[in-house]
Amino acid sequence: MRALQVGLAGLGTVGGGVVRLLAAHADVIAERAGRAIRVAAVAARDRAKQRDLPLNDVRWVDDARALATDTSIDVVVEVIGGADGVARELTEAALKAKKPVVTANKAMLALHGTALARAAEAAGVPIACEAAVAGGIPIVKALREGLAANRIERVFGILNGTCNYILTQMQESGRGFAEVLAEAQKLGYAEADPSFDVDGIDAAHKLAVLAGIAFNRPVDFGAVHIEGIRAVDAIDIDYARELGYRIKLLAIARRTRDGIEQRVHPCMVDAEQAIAHVDGVFNAVVAEGDFVDRTMYVGRGAGAGPTASAVVADLIDVARGKVPPLYGVAAAHLADIPAAPMERHVGEYYVRLTVADRPGVIADVSAVLRDERISIESLLQRARAVSDEAVPVVMVTHETEEAAMRRALAKIGALASVTAPPCMIRIEQL
Ligand code: HSE
Repeated sequence: MRALQVGLAGLGTVGGGVVRLLAAHADVIAERAGRAIRVAAVAARDRAKQRDLPLNDVRWVDDARALATDTSIDVVVEVIGGADGVARELTEAALKAKKPVVTANKAMLALHGTALARAAEAAGVPIACEAAVAGGIPIVKALREGLAANRIERVFGILNGTCNYILTQMQESGRGFAEVLAEAQKLGYAEADPSFDVDGIDAAHKLAVLAGIAFNRPVDFGAVHIEGIRAVDAIDIDYARELGYRIKLLAIARRTRDGIEQRVHPCMVDAEQAIAHVDGVFNAVVAEGDFVDRTMYVGRGAGAGPTASAVVADLIDVARGKVPPLYGVAAAHLADIPAAPMERHVGEYYVRLTVADRPGVIADVSAVLRDERISIESLLQRARAVSDEAVPVVMVTHETEEAAMRRALAKIGALASVTAPPCMIRIEQL
């Protein structure tokens, strides 16, 4: 059978990895796919760049969008990135031209995924996205195929390696966020502009895609509550340890009474839980189904090898003619389940206050919590202030509603004896 002809858009870390992997494992891939898979054409910004890739017989195309209508190309691989611009134009044009698309682009799928799924179905070709979520971990396949018989109740995980690396370093070295981030940037583990990672956006893009697949619901990035890790203080990491927790940036989607809750924020996680020990740049995803119970997947969430592994797995599926619909069901059958507002989230909270060390302060704080019907599980004041210094007071609450907690924090923050904005981290029961 004729080899599957790939048009590769993007020759950065991921694109380079795809070229290398297809060359390194050409024989075994051909056996598994039932036909050879070869890169026929590439489009990349800088053709002159030294890349050291096996690209001898490969055609160069100046404008990636031309791959969509190139009749010698069977499938387009989009690894350019960005929710819009060339990546989206190429994807839309390729689907319109009835070419399958393999993409690693979580931002594009989080924002335009439902429209792209519809376009793919209208054209009768697949769009595949294993590399868009958690890099080398085959979580899309696991949810959409391996767990296809289950009703998924919750899916959550560590979906951003940069944040997990920073939090792990903070935990291990006792250093603060800014110092660890600066070092991570120097070592090339964090981007020069780290905001997509450390502000939780990247994890939220991936969560939106996962939730679409898990709950067969139109992808709904706008409904994701997002907080990053900039406000996590070294002192909170110390307190977490003392209380038997670790702090992780988790991305969580689950069914609730009010609909599907989607949130990304730092969490206190029981130190006994396996996910609390997924450290450094590693990602982890836990998917819970009603029949299968809990399943967990751990691996590298980024980098040339892991991401190429996911892209090429999709290419093998395309070659086999076996790619399920993007969100597990036909776009017309996506469920109309509402998004649960974050204000209705119910959970336990860790709150750290900085207070003047004088009589009556805890009484004032307790009065606010009483008025909001928030019950304290434990309260910790570590040190006695020397002279007039402020001291940290840490509280852990019983389960309460987010809206009540937000009102309480606003009132507590306004008390004269509370000398800095309260710090809150949600405790996640896993
Ligand atoms: N920047 C991401 C991370 C990898 O740090 O996990 C690509 O999505």
